[in-house]
Amino acid sequence: MLPGSNRMAFPALPRDEAVSTRGLLTGLEILEITMYPALKKELETFERRTPKSAEAHKKNLKRIPLGVASNYRAYDPYPIFVEDAKAGRFRDLDGNQYIDHNLCFGALMAGHCHPAVMNAVEKRLSTGTMFGMPHNMEWELAEEICTRFRVEMCRFGNSGTEVTMHSIRLARAATGRDKIMKFEGGYHGLHDSALVSVKPHPPHDDLGDVKNPKQVSAGLGVPKTAIANVLVATFNDLETVERRFKENPGEIAAIILEPIMMNVGMCMPEKGFLEGLRQICDRSGALLIFDEVKTGAKLSWGGASEYFSVTPDMICLAKSIGGGLPLAAFGTHKRVMDLISDHRVFHGGTYNTNPVSMAAGLATFRHVLTRDNYAHVEKLSKKLADGYRKIMTQSGLQGEVLSAGANGVLMLHPKHVRNYRDWLTLDTDLWRHYWFGMVNRGVMCQPYWWDEQWTISVQHTEADIEKHLATFDDIASSLAAAQQERMGAVV
Ligand SMILES: Cc1ncc(COP(=O)(O)O)c(C=O)c1O
Repeated sequence: MLPGSNRMAFPALPRDEAVSTRGLLTGLEILEITMYPALKKELETFERRTPKSAEAHKKNLKRIPLGVASNYRAYDPYPIFVEDAKAGRFRDLDGNQYIDHNLCFGALMAGHCHPAVMNAVEKRLSTGTMFGMPHNMEWELAEEICTRFRVEMCRFGNSGTEVTMHSIRLARAATGRDKIMKFEGGYHGLHDSALVSVKPHPPHDDLGDVKNPKQVSAGLGVPKTAIANVLVATFNDLETVERRFKENPGEIAAIILEPIMMNVGMCMPEKGFLEGLRQICDRSGALLIFDEVKTGAKLSWGGASEYFSVTPDMICLAKSIGGGLPLAAFGTHKRVMDLISDHRVFHGGTYNTNPVSMAAGLATFRHVLTRDNYAHVEKLSKKLADGYRKIMTQSGLQGEVLSAGANGVLMLHPKHVRNYRDWLTLDTDLWRHYWFGMVNRGVMCQPYWWDEQWTISVQHTEADIEKHLATFDDIASSLAAAQQERMGAVV
């Protein structure tokens, strides 16, 4: 095992480790436990550049757990606090500028303050921000979604969590079955049916054999009955899926998955995997749910179903469809949605289709998520990925670079990642060396955490990509030297 590779953070951080480090130590002390000199230097630079973020975080900690509004935003020594953002960049409280490929965990393929989205939002702000009654934009946006994603009907929500939750309930109602199946390492939000085997962490958690992964709760508070109803299989391994269906005949309502698993960097589906899932669902009467919270807007004009030519029964959309405002949707066959129409399945929400988010959504579909813009982001993402590969070859840094649509990632893994278990082999200190090295030089190459990936926005330019690559070039030899030294230390 590589040094430091078992050090994770929420939801990857082992619970006892999270408590002990955060309870007993602060700032750089925490990191010194495993830090090597080049990483330590980057951390010191980070602290020198961002004193106002440190101060703001300290204040937040008094009233807000972890000092952040979502656990994913917490990292050591403290997260960067944002002052403002525009197009493909943001500024922190200390005035440092960054090229932004975090883009709110991939929710902003539009880039910050996209003019068409801002214009639509500004117009709406003075004509009523919430009605709790129907309006005309509902029809318009539903039409856009159903045409593009080949579903017959859709309903709206505000977050990915909401729409995966409603989709799963609807699938259970449509089949009269309680169990669902997900993949180890897959993330589908924060409701009980999603918080199973998200980032199970050995040796703290018993994962079971990769051919027979165990269900592991992603935290306290998830009822045992909820966990029992969520079966787990291994991504890219149809045998593990078949096994679950054999063990639970006539009991599985749905398979839910991200067509590209993006909670482990990027884990691409192998040839035949998605098609195989489609066949298993058809054979067993289960519904296939594509969680397209990330892929729906960012992979291609028609999302993952168009990209991979596999049609699911249900899709879940969120993040980048809102252009920077909270907007989500789930869509499926009319016969399934009839359960809502017949009042047999309940769906509602005070904030559903609020006019400001809907105006942003319409502007996003019409002016951001266009075929031309997909060509633009794909071209930039490919340029970035090719540039990374070239620099890696020159510097001797080992790993893999993947890109698809607006997303891409540097996977500093010893081998190609086919599933969650492969992803666990990452040297996380080396990854931090990469991330802080880039951030200290003005490039937020992806959100913090090694399970994420970069997003290219429609407002990024060739010049942004060139600056990104020049920055990576600047740190690549230091990364390669650290990697070689640490690989030599493998026992
Ligand atoms: C694939 C996937 N599904 C669901 C969610 C949950 O979305 P939200 O954070 O909007 O609740 C996320 C969020 O990162 C996601 O990536």
